[in-house]
Amino acid sequence: MRPADTVAPVTDPYLPGESSDPAARDPTAAVTDHVRRSWDRETLPRGDEKRQVVQQMFDAIAGRYDLVNRVMTFGLDIRWRRHTVAELHLEPASVVLDLASGTGDLCVNLMRAGYRPISIDLSLGMLKADRSGAPRVQADILRLPIGPAAVDGVTCGFALRNLVELEAFFAELARVVRPGGRIALLDVGIPSNPVIRWGNGIYFGKVVPRIGALLSDGAAYRYLPKSVSYLPPPAAMLAMLNDAGFVHVSHHFLSGGLTQLLVGTRA
Ligand SMILES: C[S@@+](CC[C@H](N)C(=O)[O-])C[C@H]1O[C@@H](n2cnc3c(N)ncnc32)[C@H](O)[C@@H]1O
Repeated sequence: MRPADTVAPVTDPYLPGESSDPAARDPTAAVTDHVRRSWDRETLPRGDEKRQVVQQMFDAIAGRYDLVNRVMTFGLDIRWRRHTVAELHLEPASVVLDLASGTGDLCVNLMRAGYRPISIDLSLGMLKADRSGAPRVQADILRLPIGPAAVDGVTCGFALRNLVELEAFFAELARVVRPGGRIALLDVGIPSNPVIRWGNGIYFGKVVPRIGALLSDGAAYRYLPKSVSYLPPPAAMLAMLNDAGFVHVSHHFLSGGLTQLLVGTRA
């Protein structure tokens, strides 16, 4: 049986009823003070509170997410996503889950590469802004509504640091990816070169929040750079992937360490 036949339940689109969160109903609507407060903060949230903050924040910034991405990365994000998909090395028509898919940019790349992506995200606002044409599912990627060994591969872009528990996420990947299937996980990095690291720190700490404030929501783009500190060092993430059941795991820095990519094969 092809893996696609074992993926259930997925319809296009599978979006549950309207959210009571005004920002989720209309992601481009003005963000209320109540919603804004949840991520406009100095300390980073943990546990269930973090999940809620992340969902509300992405619901609120969904409308301008792509624009801010292009501007703040000078279009480099397009190259990083292409590189991520190229690391899969799967057969044409393979079923690939794009987890924390956001507005579906990686799904577009997956389709261009001849794969069959499924877009999964927690934020209804982001899913509504997804124009990739891939089937869309609203779900927490730590508890996927997907059967065991049901898919050929997984991509995930810029979401590892938003997750409550990385080990639980890697275990969930190992559960849904078939033996021999591939994963490619992209996120921001911390450059090892001190000069680039210093410049990157200034850019993400000072310039990006201003770009965010101008085009979208300043508090969200103050939160995003801070959230990098949630990520463990590369060696620790590789060890976690190994423990979860992946082999041939490797870590690559892209663009001098501005981003990092973790790849592996399900044992
Ligand atoms: C920075 S965006 C990245 C979107 C897209 N992957 C990209 O490359 O542009 C992070 C996404 O992760 C989603 N997310 C965060 N935690 C999640 C979770 N536990 N389950 C599902 N989606 C989650 C957010 O809703 C948001 O859309």
